[in-house]
Amino acid sequence: MDEIEEIKIQKQYIEKVANLNENKNLKYTILTMGCQLNENDSEKICGMLEEMGYIKTEKIEEANLAIFNTCCVRENAEERLFGKIGELKNLKEKNNLIIAIGGCMMQEEHILDKIKKSFSYVDIVFGTHTLHKLPEDIFKVLESQKKIKDVIDIDGNVYEDLPIKRESKIQANVTIMYGCNNFCSYCIVPYVRGRERSRKPKDIIKEVRELASQGYKEIMLLGQNVNSYLRSEMEAIKQGTLKNEDGDYKEINSFAKLLREINKIDGIERIRFISPHPKDFTLDVIEAIADCEKVCKFVHLPLQSGSTNLLKVMNRKYTKEQYLELVEKMREKIPNIKFSTDIIVGFAGETEEDFEDTLDVVRKVNFEQVFMFIYSRRVGTPGDKMPNQIPEEIKHKRFDRLKELVEKQIAENNKEYIGTTQRILVEGKSKNNEKMLTGRTESNKVVVFEGDENLINSIIDIKIVEDHMWYFKGEI
Ligand code: SAH
Ligand code: SF4
Ligand code: F3S
Repeated sequence: MDEIEEIKIQKQYIEKVANLNENKNLKYTILTMGCQLNENDSEKICGMLEEMGYIKTEKIEEANLAIFNTCCVRENAEERLFGKIGELKNLKEKNNLIIAIGGCMMQEEHILDKIKKSFSYVDIVFGTHTLHKLPEDIFKVLESQKKIKDVIDIDGNVYEDLPIKRESKIQANVTIMYGCNNFCSYCIVPYVRGRERSRKPKDIIKEVRELASQGYKEIMLLGQNVNSYLRSEMEAIKQGTLKNEDGDYKEINSFAKLLREINKIDGIERIRFISPHPKDFTLDVIEAIADCEKVCKFVHLPLQSGSTNLLKVMNRKYTKEQYLELVEKMREKIPNIKFSTDIIVGFAGETEEDFEDTLDVVRKVNFEQVFMFIYSRRVGTPGDKMPNQIPEEIKHKRFDRLKELVEKQIAENNKEYIGTTQRILVEGKSKNNEKMLTGRTESNKVVVFEGDENLINSIIDIKIVEDHMWYFKGEI
């Protein structure tokens, strides 16, 4: 069965469940862990559930259906999930609650075993490759009260046209590719998300056009490795295993070209993307960022480590020098470009010298934002089997040293914003103060300021007057 056929069938299941649920006023609650890709998946889950007649609630006590969309990139998520499911046992009996768990963690054998043994009251377990089959799974549970395990281990397909209910009316996530081929030695993602596969350019362009017509201003393009968009497909066309009969890839055949095409769409004012991989940051992508006025001059460029030795062990395929050269080249071609990054501290074999190299790169690049992680061993990855693991205490000490440097740099960088005028996309009222509005700069800094509600969802100039660690105060 092909993907289009599969989605047709699922839409029939959506109807069937909607009929069963009619006039019952049923509610669902959802907990999403992990990255923006998972958030985008959850938006699709919510879209399907609402078409099946479920209404969203934040209160677990009144829910008839509880969904968990899980992440397994680091260990702490596991404990959190098991704690949560444990708490649901009583509610399950009291309210006849249906419990469904999906996402990356469900692609791990040892997690499935644990759920079977310790949490046998869970109704549905679905994986990253079977998310679109949730309507069928729910229908079967409603009809037969049976437990459903719907996890498969495949390279993966691309499904279009699922219903979606987005979190924001201003910024929209658009997944452009699924999976990862890189197998960084610390990382579980390639094992749980399958191989790289890209959506067709025409489907992405159609989605972004629709978003523009609905009033969305900012688009976040998502993938584990966005700058290898369409690379596997181009390779397959060359080898003759994929046909290009419909001319799907005639005009747009790379990430750079996709950026240029989205840049042309009226109504969209800002384009962001995560995550690019430094090894794939080709000149055409740099030039596209420079040329496209809507593409934010703010790039997330995951470093992971500043040590060439450790980068090799991590299988990142670039050196410290290559990373720094890339940053220089981008600064040359794109005036005022700013960077954020991800760094892992305490990966297996990390010496004091390796760690100093990481601090060195942080000093040299002067990032606007650094997401710092303590290395977490993941079952099934090469990193987990390496003999020279770093003691927790050293990991934490290094983490604190990095944090100190980063916070010092951010505080200094923030000072430079004072007195400047920034273009802000106004997102809404401030959560902490109803009288203030909040928005973000191109470099993703939060700015709060006084202003009229009708400014929401527009881009305006704001003068920065006060800096705090995690936000600015500004004036129109
Ligand atoms: N594809 C993206 C990142 C995906 S995961 C990329 O390559 O940049 C998000 C971040 O989690 C990674 O950038 C990395 O810094 C961190 N991470 C991944 N695996 C980890 C692990 N085992 N322990 C700690 N941090 C990890
Ligand atoms: Fe993980 Fe590396 Fe793939 Fe990112 S590129 S998802 S870190 S394997
Ligand atoms: Fe986590 Fe899966 Fe994203 S493991 S980081 S939710 S791809």
